[in-house]
Amino acid sequence: MCGIVGYIGKRKAYPILIKGLHRLEYRGYDSAGVALINPEGQLNIYKAKGKVAELETYAADKDTDGCIGIAHTRWATHGEPNTVNAHPHYSESERLAIIHNGIIENYAVLKAGLQKEGYTFRSDTDTEVLVQLIEYTQVNRHVDLKTAVQLALQQVVGAYAIAVLDKDNPDTLLAARKGSPLVVGIGDDEYFLASDATPIVEYTDKVIYIEDEEVVVLRSEGVKELRSEGVKELRSEGVEELRSEGGKEGRSEGVEITTINNVQKTPEIKRLELSLSQLEKGGYPHFMLKEIFEQPRTLTDSMRGRVNVRQDNIALSGFIDNKERFLNAKRIIITACGTSWHAGLIAMYAIEEFAQIPVEVEYSSEFRYRKPVINKDDVVIAISQSGETADTLAAIQLAKEKGAFIFSICNVVGASIPRVSDSGCYTHVGPEIGVASTKAFTAQVVALTMLALCIGKEKGTMSKEQYLGIVRELGQIPDKIERVLGQNKRIADFAKTFTYAQNFIYLGRGYNFPVAMEGALKLKEISYIHAEGYPAAEMKHGPIALVSQEMPVVVVAPHCGTYEKVVSNIQEIKARKGRVIAVVTEGDQLVSRIADYTIEIPATEECLTPLLTVIPLQLLAYHIAVVKGCDVDQPRNLAKSVTVE
Ligand code: F6R
Repeated sequence: MCGIVGYIGKRKAYPILIKGLHRLEYRGYDSAGVALINPEGQLNIYKAKGKVAELETYAADKDTDGCIGIAHTRWATHGEPNTVNAHPHYSESERLAIIHNGIIENYAVLKAGLQKEGYTFRSDTDTEVLVQLIEYTQVNRHVDLKTAVQLALQQVVGAYAIAVLDKDNPDTLLAARKGSPLVVGIGDDEYFLASDATPIVEYTDKVIYIEDEEVVVLRSEGVKELRSEGVKELRSEGVEELRSEGGKEGRSEGVEITTINNVQKTPEIKRLELSLSQLEKGGYPHFMLKEIFEQPRTLTDSMRGRVNVRQDNIALSGFIDNKERFLNAKRIIITACGTSWHAGLIAMYAIEEFAQIPVEVEYSSEFRYRKPVINKDDVVIAISQSGETADTLAAIQLAKEKGAFIFSICNVVGASIPRVSDSGCYTHVGPEIGVASTKAFTAQVVALTMLALCIGKEKGTMSKEQYLGIVRELGQIPDKIERVLGQNKRIADFAKTFTYAQNFIYLGRGYNFPVAMEGALKLKEISYIHAEGYPAAEMKHGPIALVSQEMPVVVVAPHCGTYEKVVSNIQEIKARKGRVIAVVTEGDQLVSRIADYTIEIPATEECLTPLLTVIPLQLLAYHIAVVKGCDVDQPRNLAKSVTVE
């Protein structure tokens, strides 16, 4: 949550920062702000409530000169989303400016101490406390900025990724992290700083991932030179030339990393595997629609090198290297949040069916705060698209302390969760930019299904025929999703009928009960229509009271195990005049006759039906939200990466 961007080098910082903020807007969009040191040495801060576009309008006639700057897009935690609480924040003397992602838990105590010393506060944020503390430390301990930041951070309880500008050090950009992500991009005597690599990718593919409790100081000679020469506008092609000059690979003289206790660290430069085209809409009106339509390809990518249909085999290196841990596991605990938790629920059905290991699926936020019994022979599977979800990270930490083996399923390469796990599997679907998760979900289900099959085969708890049947069918899934996507136009048409609704119920059974919950989550988060996902048979125990002519009920009813029971549930809804939208298997006769609308999916193995049934539900939510005029990619109050607890 909250996006951080920084730049120091030879170019004008402002356009780079604004572009970076647009890329990071998915992390929060309550307010945005920028701080720049201009060639005259003035530290200017501009902020605006709302999205980055509001900031651009506000700053249009301001002095945005300078080749060093920091910028922030906020998801509010402390203090309402207004201009005063927007980042960057000045220190008391207005010599320092800070941006921050995270929460300073002991900010009230620190603030009271600073107020006693005569410091005044303009905002309600925890962030302002931090910049004041840094300045106070620097002034009273007579230390340089780096030391002041180190000493201040030693007093902080909580999570942070920060970037600090000091107008008395205009060729230095300073940053630090604990619990919130931070990446440094290495150019040629220019450096980029960001919460993730998306604002960096078009300038360089060399990055350093900052670790917890590290402080990084970035210095550019270019800033000094240009201060005397005046700032030049360089085009990106210029960067390409600079990069291909040779001999510069791995160079990072301007980067100094220490811990907050001043232990020197050697910067480790990694190569970025991300392309610019992955960050663009590619002709689609929204990222969400692009990502829904990408699923045949993303699932092919997820399975590449793992599912070998010709040899009827699945090879998952994270499993192969740690086979014994899985085979000896008495229990598997799955921990995740939101959509990733729904993928975990589907995995529970698959792992118990194929590997016959008891599975518990836990919301990370609950798991970490009760006193869970975790044994050394438990395997904990953490699922996270972003790899940065604070509660899931904390749940992993807890399980690690108890000696459990941690296997993570993650999309963002190099994120915190895979780095603290013992092993894992990347989903490789590319950046997911729409705040509502779509392609990450189906890839998580595929990864977890592959894992369940690997364990089941190795343990001998599933028949060879069943294993082979599912492996072959996995290979067919991308084409079958393509067929479901072919119904997009029809779904868009009937979606218009349902924009009046205040409430929706989604029903499903077995493998498709979590799909019902996922469909309901998609609808509520992007269209703001209240929706609940229920196991179909539970309807009689309460929710049926809600059914009326006004109530749309989405029933996920593919032709598998409990099909007849679900048909009875649909009859019960129709008897009460409910309006039914049903997802059925191609050729279905029964449900098609009684439902108001049906969407067909191709037949497949029962455990793989969620990969097909979820697609119409993603499309239905998308089209309803579009017709209602909602901001599909950036729904209100949400953020893509939940780095606060
Ligand atoms: C819903 C959604 C969220 C995330 C949840 C976990 O569409 O995107 O519910 O699934 O915040 O995020 P990750 O998977 O990044 O840990």
